[in-house]
Amino acid sequence: MQIIRTKDYEEMSRKAANIVSAQIIAKPDSVIGLATGSSPIGLYNILVERYEKGDLDFSRIRTVNLDEYKGLGGDHPQSYRYFMNKYLFSRINIPIENTHVPDGLEKDSEKAVADYIKIIRSLGGIDLQLLGMGNNGHIGFNEPGTPLELEVACTTLTDSTIEANKRFFDKKEDVPRQAYTMGIKTIMHAKKILFIVSGEKKAEVVAKAFFGPVTPDIPASILQLHNNITIIGDEAAFSKFPV
Ligand code: F6R
Repeated sequence: MQIIRTKDYEEMSRKAANIVSAQIIAKPDSVIGLATGSSPIGLYNILVERYEKGDLDFSRIRTVNLDEYKGLGGDHPQSYRYFMNKYLFSRINIPIENTHVPDGLEKDSEKAVADYIKIIRSLGGIDLQLLGMGNNGHIGFNEPGTPLELEVACTTLTDSTIEANKRFFDKKEDVPRQAYTMGIKTIMHAKKILFIVSGEKKAEVVAKAFFGPVTPDIPASILQLHNNITIIGDEAAFSKFPV
């Protein structure tokens, strides 16, 4: 476990972008697992800048996203497919067919899960998985208590997650109650994990996740058992780490 402490969000994003860039340069056909939310936006902006300068080529990269709200299609502004197109895919030279996000419009959960498992397996393993973490310790949409052995899951969002994510919707009632997510098993099989966290709000849970017991109550705590994980966080997020 490598821990990198940064001054602020900007520096966290730059350091994380360096790791993603190195991966893309070293292996131009890498499979990269991606996340949405506020945490990776700075990192995506830097990747776009480097692409525009001619320093990064995404033409052979394949991506697989962590999750999608059940019930939202790619043209819904709050869907994760829409987010990815907006912040990254439409701004770089990745062929859109190389990008994968669970199908939020698939009503049959079992089918959606089976389809995404098939896609992930067909990619032949994730080289680098980017992760953020929810205020309750979730990774992807693996909420506290989600079984650890799933490749892909359909999960029910906890009230804490609905509360945290309502900022993106007109009102709380509009936040979907379920999501499709890459499961902990798939995340743990990624060759490398890049975990980013910022802000004081997550200080307590990130300290518990990496310095407390491994427990399904804090899904991110399982990451202590991964053999190639880099955690990049700003001072505020690391403020409750043991000295
Ligand atoms: C998003 C995802 C989530 C977020 C987490 C943190 O694809 O998988 O686990 O990483 O909810 O979100 P932010 O970065 O908005 O605090």
